[in-house]
Amino acid sequence: MIVCRSKAEIEKLRRVNQLVARILAELRRMVGPGVTTKEIDASAEALVRQAGAEPAFKGYHGYPATVCASINEQVVHGIPSARRLVEGDVLSLDMGAKLDGFYGDCAVTVPVGRVSEQAAALLRVTEEALFHGIEAVRPGARVSDIGGAVQQHVEAHGFSVVREFVGHGVGTALHEEPQIANYGPGGRGPRLSEGMVLAIEPMVNAGQAAVKVLGDGWTAVTRDGSLSAHFEHTVAVTGDGAEILTLLEAEAARARALLALSD
Ligand code: MF3
Ligand code: CO
Repeated sequence: MIVCRSKAEIEKLRRVNQLVARILAELRRMVGPGVTTKEIDASAEALVRQAGAEPAFKGYHGYPATVCASINEQVVHGIPSARRLVEGDVLSLDMGAKLDGFYGDCAVTVPVGRVSEQAAALLRVTEEALFHGIEAVRPGARVSDIGGAVQQHVEAHGFSVVREFVGHGVGTALHEEPQIANYGPGGRGPRLSEGMVLAIEPMVNAGQAAVKVLGDGWTAVTRDGSLSAHFEHTVAVTGDGAEILTLLEAEAARARALLALSD
């Protein structure tokens, strides 16, 4: 069953998702050569707790940290470590929090200093693909319309969509129904209705789609060692489209430009 949230519940989800987005923006400013992902994680946890919220990932199936910090060929679920970022790396930061009983979830991939043209293109196309997916969200659309739109954009640019990890409903649990694959075909799965809240999170590889999980039981990497990117927004289905709950006011103009791409 996919839950449709009331106005009051959506307001709580707006609050926690805005908090997650603000903290991610703060973490993004820390990213640079010489910084370790453990330092970023420590700041993340402090900021979440200062706001009266709790980390959503820490302790989830035993996950040990507040953020997932996935570098270069790491796709998702990279565990923060003493590894120092170097110029040219790409770092995916994924964070969830719980506030007043409701969860927020958001991810971005950021360049460390100057990155290769291929890396820059991968980040751009993955974020665009996320917005193509968001553009597909409206009452009456089918769940797989989202993945169909994501996949089409990614493959048109010669990149590939990771199959093993999916987006999800989010609400009073971090992961609720439905699962949201990042590939099509469209026109399948449940219909969307006003009040559903969805975390859409394409993971895109510069090379082949295949991934494997490392011996730590968490870190997913590309099998071919190619770079990977991950962007995630949590959105609420509205009367005629979607409200991006993790979109900051300062990013609204950029988001409008990205959405215009998919018209
Ligand atoms: N955004 C990812 C997801 O929703 C991250 C989960 S990490 C975990 O699945 F540690 F909580 F598993
Ligand atoms: Co998620």
